[in-house]
Amino acid sequence: SVTRLVILDHIPSNYGVVLPVKEIVKVCHRSGVQVLVDGAHALGMLDINMRDISADYYIGNAHKWFCNPKGCGFLYVDSAHHSLIRPLVVSHGFGSGFTAEFLWSGLMDYTSYLSLLTVIQFWRHYNPQKIRHYIRSLSREAGEYLVSQWGTGLLSNIDHFCGLMLVQLPAGVLKKDDAISYDDAELIQNELHHKYKIEVKKDTQSFFISI
Ligand SMILES: Cc1ncc(COP(=O)(O)O)c(C=O)c1O
Repeated sequence: SVTRLVILDHIPSNYGVVLPVKEIVKVCHRSGVQVLVDGAHALGMLDINMRDISADYYIGNAHKWFCNPKGCGFLYVDSAHHSLIRPLVVSHGFGSGFTAEFLWSGLMDYTSYLSLLTVIQFWRHYNPQKIRHYIRSLSREAGEYLVSQWGTGLLSNIDHFCGLMLVQLPAGVLKKDDAISYDDAELIQNELHHKYKIEVKKDTQSFFISI
């Protein structure tokens, strides 16, 4: 089989680390493979420069770190592929070029698009670098604190994380010696989720809580 397209997350939500997408794109392009980057967790947390990343496609939303109401996202397509990509819904602008075809789908609810300007003004007013620095420092501090209390470790080098952080739960959290099963993992996951609203990555080898 021939690989035609690689799809990867800029920040995979279950690992919380920033992937070196620019370098990955370069490697794929060397083999003639197109790349689609899913940047669901990137906008607001990272500076994203489409030209610099050079992916063929980049998608993202504005409702996570960027704090816009849900329903608003973006699609970037390298101009070389514009003729290949069409909107799911044929509507106004059909046949009038890439941007026009995506511009206005009749009957869509555009309210979350309309709030975007206010959200952008908010970010400009409060300085994105300062906000990101604050979030990353808080998450670092929490990660380091838990690691020191539990005597465990992080899923990856602390500098790889960006707002999210995965900390390993201590051994013996289940008060049993034998190997942790999938059901055990689910038990802990549910307990932490329902009681404390903490998301835990389910893994039968070791548990990481996502903070
Ligand atoms: C990598 C990734 N892609 C896509 C999504 C879904 O994004 P949306 O809420 O815009 O559908 C998520 C949600 O967490 C995600 O982590």
